[in-house]
Amino acid sequence: MSASTAKRGILPPDIEARKGGTPLVVLTAYTTPVAKLVDAHCDIALVGDSLGMVVYGLPSTLAVTMEMMIAHGQAVMRGLTAAMCVIDLPFGSFEESPAQAFRNASRLLAETGAAAVKLEGGVHMAETIAFLTARGVPVMAHIGLTPQAVNALGGYKVQGRGEDAARVLADAKAVADAGAFAVVLEKVPQGLAREITEAVAIPTIGIGAGKDCDGQVLVVDDMLGMFTDFRPKFVKRFGNLAEAADRAIEGYAAEVRARTFPAPEHSFDT
Ligand code: KIV
Repeated sequence: MSASTAKRGILPPDIEARKGGTPLVVLTAYTTPVAKLVDAHCDIALVGDSLGMVVYGLPSTLAVTMEMMIAHGQAVMRGLTAAMCVIDLPFGSFEESPAQAFRNASRLLAETGAAAVKLEGGVHMAETIAFLTARGVPVMAHIGLTPQAVNALGGYKVQGRGEDAARVLADAKAVADAGAFAVVLEKVPQGLAREITEAVAIPTIGIGAGKDCDGQVLVVDDMLGMFTDFRPKFVKRFGNLAEAADRAIEGYAAEVRARTFPAPEHSFDT
């Protein structure tokens, strides 16, 4: 099977048909082992450009490249058997024109085997979303807080409070009308997320958008508790892996220094 052949399992029309049904479960994944864990429990594995911060320690997603996305997309696809893979178009790879977006979106799908791309932007990206979907590229839209616009937005702030709600609602309607099969709502007030979910015919997938969306997404390392210094309000820690890893590494270091590891059972006879 070539990388460009969609794997069996969930595809964009299946996701779209889940509107109003059992909530969609989405987590990011960046590596094969984590993709295998996500595959067992989730509908979608998102190769988010958050990998720039989570995996590479970058200060934002702005420096993430197509090459990074492709390498991690391929790694994630090796771990999936059922869940659908969606991959982010990184900053600078799609905003210039619909043709640029198609060139890079088709490359992501062809070189990774992911089923769909995600791109950030609302009304101003509607033309691009229509261009892509008309040419066979399923698009998940991403509105509200769009981290690639962190500088323009003045930080990672809640979007759509007060009078600004009309702008975010217009974004949601525009991406739905343009043909997106789902839309991520990031960091918007829960009342607005409910209104958008009722107003559009495609599933809304919330992150920091309250409980009324059609699904939820989190960055997998955040919900696993991989970081001790990052605790945004919208992340619930379902695990505490940083502490567990710290204890394990502390134990290893102590045993190496005490020469109690490796023990005979970890060693080979002549
Ligand atoms: O890049 C990412 O991980 C995302 C999710 C947080 C929605 O866009």
